[in-house]
Amino acid sequence: MTFLKKILITGGAGFIGSHLVRLMVNKYPSYKIVNLDKLTYAGNLENLKDIETSSNYEFIKGDIVSAEFIADLFKKYQFDAVIHLAAESHVDRSIANPMDFIMTNIVGTVNLLNAAKSNWSSTKNNLFYHVSTDEVYGSLGQTGMFTESTSYDPRSPYSASKASSDHLVRAYFHTYHLPIVISNCSNNYGSHQFPEKLIPLFINNIKNNKSLPVYGKGENVRDWLWVEDHARAIDLIFHNAKIGETYNIGGHNEWKNIDLIRVMCKIMDEELNRPIGTSEKLITYVTDRAGHDLRYAIDATKLKNELGWTPSLQFEEGIKKTIRWYLENENWLNQVTSGEYQKYYDKQYFNR
Ligand code: NAD
Ligand code: TYD
Repeated sequence: MTFLKKILITGGAGFIGSHLVRLMVNKYPSYKIVNLDKLTYAGNLENLKDIETSSNYEFIKGDIVSAEFIADLFKKYQFDAVIHLAAESHVDRSIANPMDFIMTNIVGTVNLLNAAKSNWSSTKNNLFYHVSTDEVYGSLGQTGMFTESTSYDPRSPYSASKASSDHLVRAYFHTYHLPIVISNCSNNYGSHQFPEKLIPLFINNIKNNKSLPVYGKGENVRDWLWVEDHARAIDLIFHNAKIGETYNIGGHNEWKNIDLIRVMCKIMDEELNRPIGTSEKLITYVTDRAGHDLRYAIDATKLKNELGWTPSLQFEEGIKKTIRWYLENENWLNQVTSGEYQKYYDKQYFNR
């Protein structure tokens, strides 16, 4: 079958990547979607069980850090476009071991840029879409929001590696005229997120009556967006963006960690038929994260005004839906939390 476009999605077995792959495979039968993923602890093909036999989908296991592998892959497949999500994505892991972040997030991105640059002779109909984070902008005080012109000020090894990759993607646009677009999104929540990030970790811990390690005083603020709204935004930007542009994506949905945790505890008590107040007793204040960014908040006006995107789901509904998903998908949780996860988790919270 001849496809209209052949799109490489990297990191498609991860949290956001799997939602995007599902959307693209189902919505665009005329596109061939190739999912390249190393299947690290965070990547799981269970996330894509429902579309794995689709005729416009193919999975390839591989590492973006291998320049030779990436060069061969581009020669073989002749991709029209790339949507690049593969990354090491957890701030705490980046503090413990920055080098994995440098290799995947920076070197891996440059390998993809080089392969695109060598294979795309004319810039027409090609696009390198780099998926990034609002954490590149650093930390806000009590007021203000990140816009697309906020100066970069990354403060963790994770955000520094993502900032570096953003700069390199822009450098390839200015220097080599590679057709690129970048989006910087706020914190995502939803199904299929590996339970080390705040929301799925705390759902899993409440379910198992384990303590809820709140960093510092729980006063840090994050701006939460439903993952499927992020995937919708990527689709819209991919098809309509101006080449070379950056778009912020966010839900105007700021929560102080401790307030969010209390809301989750209440919903979990209701869902598990426990007396209200049971889950809150699991809250344990622990040593703050090193260099913990105080507040993130995204101004997504450009995306709304230029491309008409707004979030579709209210947080109150989204968080309930998310909690129910984790409770109904016990096998998924058990599978991803066995093995390597357990070692990391025990080291983080119980052996210090
Ligand atoms: P994730 O950790 O759930 O998934 C990352 C995926 O990349 C995994 O499937 C993993 O196996 C794969 N991967 C890692 N190293 C690889 C390598 N060397 N080669 C090939 N594949 C590799 O991450 P996520 O939360 O889905 O984030 C996806 C992207 O979105 C990342 O680039 C992240 O920086 C960005 N982002 C995330 C959020 C968020 O809230 N999670 C917000 C904004 C932007
Ligand atoms: P996280 O989900 O790791 O996302 P990020 O650090 O990339 O924003 O953390 C969200 C917030 O929750 C952040 O302020 C750190 C805090 N946090 C805790 O208090 N305890 C935890 O165990 C984790 C993982 C996060």
